[in-house]
Amino acid sequence: MRNFENKVVLITGGGTGIGKATASAFVAEGANVVITGRRQTVLEETARELGELVHFIVGDVSKKGDHKRIIDETIGKFGRLDVLVNGAGTGAMGPLSETSDEVIESTYRTNVFGPLSLIREAIPQLVNTKGNVINITSVMSNGVMPGSAMYSSSKAALDHATRCLAAELGPSGVRVNAVAPGFTATDITAELRKDEQMVGMFVGQTPMGRLGEPSDIANAVLLLAGEKAEWVTGQIVQAGGGMML
Ligand SMILES: NC(=O)c1ccc[n+]([C@@H]2O[C@H](COP(=O)([O-])OP(=O)(O)OC[C@H]3O[C@@H](n4cnc5c(N)ncnc54)[C@H](OP(=O)(O)O)[C@@H]3O)[C@@H](O)[C@H]2O)c1
Repeated sequence: MRNFENKVVLITGGGTGIGKATASAFVAEGANVVITGRRQTVLEETARELGELVHFIVGDVSKKGDHKRIIDETIGKFGRLDVLVNGAGTGAMGPLSETSDEVIESTYRTNVFGPLSLIREAIPQLVNTKGNVINITSVMSNGVMPGSAMYSSSKAALDHATRCLAAELGPSGVRVNAVAPGFTATDITAELRKDEQMVGMFVGQTPMGRLGEPSDIANAVLLLAGEKAEWVTGQIVQAGGGMML
């Protein structure tokens, strides 16, 4: 039997990049997977590519009300929820003096408010299944560099919420962990990856000597979500080839 047979996994940001690779890895282990995001065409295409175990729900994690609807629709379709992967995120960087209130607000709404609100709506379902949450944060949570105050602090907030919620939900049998990717080849880094010097700098800061692939992050998510990690909670596991340890 495969590791996630008959389990139901919900992945925000599951249409692209790390979320899509994670959806693909769970499908390979037999899970039913729900992917969400704002762009219907992207979700449709990914669901078609990954096959009949994948269902999609269009939803915006920065918007009030979408969280309850996403959980309700997941339960309506599959009747249970075993793993919630908060993968949706936004990565704007730049000096604070050039950052508008709108960008600060939307970053925090997507990277902090969204995961917290979705976890809250999912708690009763996760308690039923003794399930678990994986938050996708970033090695930048620990990184200190100019231009990163907004993004890094939003991911650091989610890291800390991960530890607090592990303490809060542990007595109900629910585990909460985070996977913190390093520099990974996805849409978020597409512009940066056009600059060879920049790529060289990131690879130079990565002891394992290459950029991350979405599947590298998916592998770490499946390790933490699986039964072999049943005694692991409140942990931020870096998946970045040693970048920013
Ligand atoms: N790539 C890296 O180097 C790296 C490093 C550290 C951490 N991360 C984190 O990894 C996660 C996945 O990013 P990625 O690298 O795979 O890039 P990506 O391919 O751009 O994925 C981001 C996903 O989030 C979804 N999303 C964004 N805002 C959303 C919202 N308000 N509501 C619902 N969905 C939303 C996007 O779909 P729609 O646009 O269709 O909504 C997209 O599918 C993010 O949390 C990111 O911060 C990435």
